[in-house]
Amino acid sequence: MRATLNGITLAYNDTGTGVPLVFLHAFPLNRTMWAQQEAALATQHRVITVDLRGHGESDAPLWHYTLDQAADDVRALLDHLAVPQAILVGLSMGGYIAFAFHRRYAGRVKGLVLADTRAQADTEDGKAGRFQMAQIAYRQGPSAIADIMIPKLLTPGTIQTKPAITDRVRAMIEGNQISGIAGDLMAMAERPDSVPFLKAIACPTQIIVGEEDRATPPSDAALMADRIPGARLARIPEAGHLANLEQPDAFNRIVANFVKSLA
Ligand code: MLT
Repeated sequence: MRATLNGITLAYNDTGTGVPLVFLHAFPLNRTMWAQQEAALATQHRVITVDLRGHGESDAPLWHYTLDQAADDVRALLDHLAVPQAILVGLSMGGYIAFAFHRRYAGRVKGLVLADTRAQADTEDGKAGRFQMAQIAYRQGPSAIADIMIPKLLTPGTIQTKPAITDRVRAMIEGNQISGIAGDLMAMAERPDSVPFLKAIACPTQIIVGEEDRATPPSDAALMADRIPGARLARIPEAGHLANLEQPDAFNRIVANFVKSLA
């Protein structure tokens, strides 16, 4: 499905009925990373997945991207779909956008699932790395970004033994435009520190982390769990950064139990 919102076209899926769950994907992927969550959870809930601005089948204008703007796009999509309140499920960059959304529109958030993400801003070295990666995207294209990102996103075990997952991730990355990849990198580099804001998150929150996540390790998840009032933390064995792709059944069970607990 398509909607023209905030001056661009966004592609999304809206499947099932019940409590609305909005899934926000990681960098530099797209909404199809949630296919197994959609299949399992849309039998009982309304599952909305969206290609964020700059990704997949959504427009990727050459422009100044920000995570606040991504949050505004999500809000516009909720308005378009007449969804007053939703549970946001954000993985990694999707989690950064969930923080931005909660800061701006807390009343629209029924619950948060923060998966394989972190509250801290980038370090100075981290910011410099973003700009180097944007240069690589500009000079060598998305497949060079796939070469860099795949070992950060998946465990060595997945890369060695599950080529179908690796191929899927590569196809998602290679399907993006350079404008979107570079735009995201700049947006993530300038995102604010969300640590001081964690104690103000009043909605029910589930944190999930792959035990082998090296991009946003379990210590980042523990920090969020310590600071967000009442947050629960679940660790998924044999999963790296893309825990939802590497261990979909465990991931889906945690999300389903969380949604049930809010009923
Ligand atoms: C992601 O998976 O969205 C990225 O690893 C996030 C980041 O680079 O900080």
